[in-house]
Amino acid sequence: MSELNLILLGPPGAGKGTQAARLRKDFDLAYIATGDLLRHHVEEETELGRKAVSFMDKGDLVPDELVIAMILAKIESEGDDGFLLDGFPRNEKQAEALEDELDGLGRRLTAALYVAAPDEVVVERLSGRRQCTNGHIQHVTFDPPKVDNMCDLCGRPLKLRKDDKPEVVQKRLQTYHEQTESLIDYYEEKGLLRRFDGTRSPTEVHDHIRATLATLRLEERL
Ligand code: AP5
Repeated sequence: MSELNLILLGPPGAGKGTQAARLRKDFDLAYIATGDLLRHHVEEETELGRKAVSFMDKGDLVPDELVIAMILAKIESEGDDGFLLDGFPRNEKQAEALEDELDGLGRRLTAALYVAAPDEVVVERLSGRRQCTNGHIQHVTFDPPKVDNMCDLCGRPLKLRKDDKPEVVQKRLQTYHEQTESLIDYYEEKGLLRRFDGTRSPTEVHDHIRATLATLRLEERL
C-alpha cells in the first residue's frame, strides 16, 4: 500500500492537534508538529529556541529559514514510511520548500487536510485549552480533566499555553488570515485539499477524515 504523506491545515484552535493524536493511532505515521518542536527548543533553551521564542510569544510566525530547515531534516530522518505534518507549511514559501524536498525524494503529498473553524469558536477553545509538558491536550469545558489541572493521560500538570492568552490568540488569528489562509486555494488548485468541519465533535471530525483517507487509498489502488 502506498505511503500517506499528509498535512493538517487550519486556523489555531481548529483541532489539528486533537485530530493528529487520533490519526497517529490509526496510521503508523511520523508525526511532525512544528509548534511542539519549537516549544521543545524553547524549553531546552537551544539556539533555535532562543531565536524563536519572541516570535511565538507575540503570535508571529518564526522566520522561514529557521523552520524550513528543522522540518525538512525531520522528514528526511523520520518520514520514510509516511508523515503527518501539523503546523507546516504556514505560507507559500514553506509550501514550495516542502514540494521541492518531496520532488527531490521522488515522493508527493497525498492530501492537505483542512480543518475549518470560525474565529469565535477558536477564541473560546483556546482560552479553555490546557496542555501538559508531554503535549497532551484537554479543555476545561469540552474535555475536562478527571482530576483538576492534571492530565488524564500522563498525570502531569496541565497549563495554559503562553500564546493562548486572549491578546496573543487575536494576533495568531490575524497572522493566520494574512499568511496561511491562502494555502487553502494553493492546495485546492493542486487537487490535494480535503475540507472538514472543525465545529463538529472531535469524533465526527475524526470519522470524516478516516473515511476520506480510506477513499483516497482505494482510488490510488484503482
Ligand atoms: P502551533 O503549536 O502549530 O499552534 P496553532 O497552529 O496555532 O495550533 P494550535 O495548537 O493552537 O491549535 P490546534 O488546531 O492544534 O487545536 P487543538 O487540537 O489544540 O504553533 C504555535 C506557534 O509556533 C505559532 O504561533 C508560530 O509562532 C510558531 N510556528 C509553528 N509552526 C510554524 C511555521 N510553520 N512557521 C513559522 N512559525 C511557526 O484544539 C484546541 C482546543 O479545542 C483544545 O482544548 C481541544 O481539546 C478543543 N477541541 C479540539 N477539537 C474540538 C472539537 N471538535 N470540539 C470541541 N473542542 C475541540
